[in-house]
Amino acid sequence: VLEIGALAPGERAAAVAVLARAFRDNPLNCAALAGCGPRRRERANAAGMRATLATAHAHGRVLAARADGRPAGVLVAVPPGAWPLPLPPLRLRLRALLGQGLGAARRWGEVFEALSAEHPVGARWYLSTLGVAPELQRRGVGSALLGAWLQEVDRDGVAAYLETDRPENLGFYRHAGFAVIGECRALGVRLWRMERPAAARAPGV
Ligand SMILES: CC(C)(COP(=O)(O)OP(=O)(O)OC[C@H]1O[C@@H](n2cnc3c(N)ncnc32)[C@H](O)[C@@H]1OP(=O)(O)O)[C@@H](O)C(=O)NCCC(=O)NCCS
Repeated sequence: VLEIGALAPGERAAAVAVLARAFRDNPLNCAALAGCGPRRRERANAAGMRATLATAHAHGRVLAARADGRPAGVLVAVPPGAWPLPLPPLRLRLRALLGQGLGAARRWGEVFEALSAEHPVGARWYLSTLGVAPELQRRGVGSALLGAWLQEVDRDGVAAYLETDRPENLGFYRHAGFAVIGECRALGVRLWRMERPAAARAPGV
């Protein structure tokens, strides 16, 4: 049984672990953590996600999908007008830097700049992160999280925007009413930029 709701502070460590594993093999992640093996990438991801989730918790929206009471998937979104989120506190940034390494931190900075240059202007929700534990993927967890968030988006009556580095994800987001509006590159990795117009109704979501 799946339950969706705001991530509780006590669930943050479990959410970090889910996201660190979900993104371990994504192309952009592999490029940012060039030369690192899967275990090292997972550890480095956890370091970055800890800082990301702390800021998102304070200034954005963090939803968790719980299976048997434990986070199986996590969605991080930025409300209209709140992008870019403020930097995490210095203590967390230093911890992320130590956990990721200087090279990876610099490359993530490059990614942020590349994405920022393409970020649309005007009020819209932004899907910054959506990840499901690998062993629980393709069972509807991601769709349930996306659907719960899009209900909020529709209540606000604004568009929603995201980038993805996996062509396999394009169909998943198209089902929810997103369409590709452009492409860009970061660290040589191809990224698709997708938008869902305000108040679009997606069948089944
Ligand atoms: C992308 C991601 C969030 C999707 O989450 P998910 O829980 O696997 O998604 P769902 O199970 O809801 O849907 C995925 C597909 O499985 C299908 N599906 C859903 N339930 C299913 C079931 N019970 N059996 C078989 N297939 C199923 C869906 O129809 C969907 O197909 P589609 O791609 O044609 O739309 C997840 O795969 C993930 O974490 N990927 C790695 C990180 C990532 O790339 N995140 C997105 C960054 S933008």
